[in-house]
Amino acid sequence: MADDDYLDAVDYTRDDLDVEDLEEVRHAVRLLDVHRTFTLAKKEIAAVQGVNLTVDAGDFVVISGKSGSGKTTLLNLIGAIDLPTSGRVFVMDVPINDYDESFRASFRLNNTGFIFQSYNLVSTLTAVENIMFPMQLSDKNRTELREDALKLLENIGLDERADHLPWQLSSGEQQRIAIARAIANDPPIILADEPTANLDGDSGQMIRELLTDLNKQGKAVIVMTHDEKIIKQPKAHCYRMKLGVLEQNV
Ligand SMILES: Nc1ncnc2c1ncn2[C@@H]1O[C@H](COP(=O)(O)OP(=O)(O)OP(=O)(O)O)[C@@H](O)[C@H]1O
Ligand SMILES: [Mg+2]
Repeated sequence: MADDDYLDAVDYTRDDLDVEDLEEVRHAVRLLDVHRTFTLAKKEIAAVQGVNLTVDAGDFVVISGKSGSGKTTLLNLIGAIDLPTSGRVFVMDVPINDYDESFRASFRLNNTGFIFQSYNLVSTLTAVENIMFPMQLSDKNRTELREDALKLLENIGLDERADHLPWQLSSGEQQRIAIARAIANDPPIILADEPTANLDGDSGQMIRELLTDLNKQGKAVIVMTHDEKIIKQPKAHCYRMKLGVLEQNV
């Protein structure tokens, strides 16, 4: 869909947080001429420059690029953690920059599951409590939420680690818990920032399989990575960031 047609088709008045009817969504993610410039000590850093990107439901997008090329900055913009300096960011056809932080926080919880390189589990919460953490907007009571979280733990083979604190888990286990947390609300989009960078071979393989499984379930997966085994996934649409500019990787 051409940019102008898409801009005309988007409903700018919607205020629903949870996009239920996925069939109706035109694009999982659409970036139009997105820039993000940081100003530090009067120096400008153009971390993301004029990025255009379309990701459809069920796509598997892999973006590689040197350190400092703008990968994390771009992922934060897609995840509504950060705002662009200029350009438009649509997630599930919602122009997320147009909304205030409170809407965007709730929108994030429902629609984007974020997986970080360093797991970012809450150190004072157990494995099962970390998975329950994003479920705070749910109408269910705590016992039901715990049951849901235990099911997610079982799916990743870690039900016996439910009451472990993060420091009592291996790196690979922590990252699997972080993935379970990212999918706790069944979001349609998964954003992963170098999810296998700190893991050994076997743990990395488990994470790669979890990501491809999520994609097979129909989720759009966007991964920033140098991991050749992820880049070579047959379904991957590959891009490269170079000094803030996104290029198709052929
Ligand atoms: N909050 C910030 N304030 C100022 N500059 C920033 C900020 N965040 C990122 N930058 C700068 O923007 C550029 C892109 O950073 P970014 O973290 O997006 O790179 P990256 O590709 O994720 O790198 P890496 O592979 O090391 O994670 C870098 O030059 C960085 O120093
Ligand atoms: Mg980064």
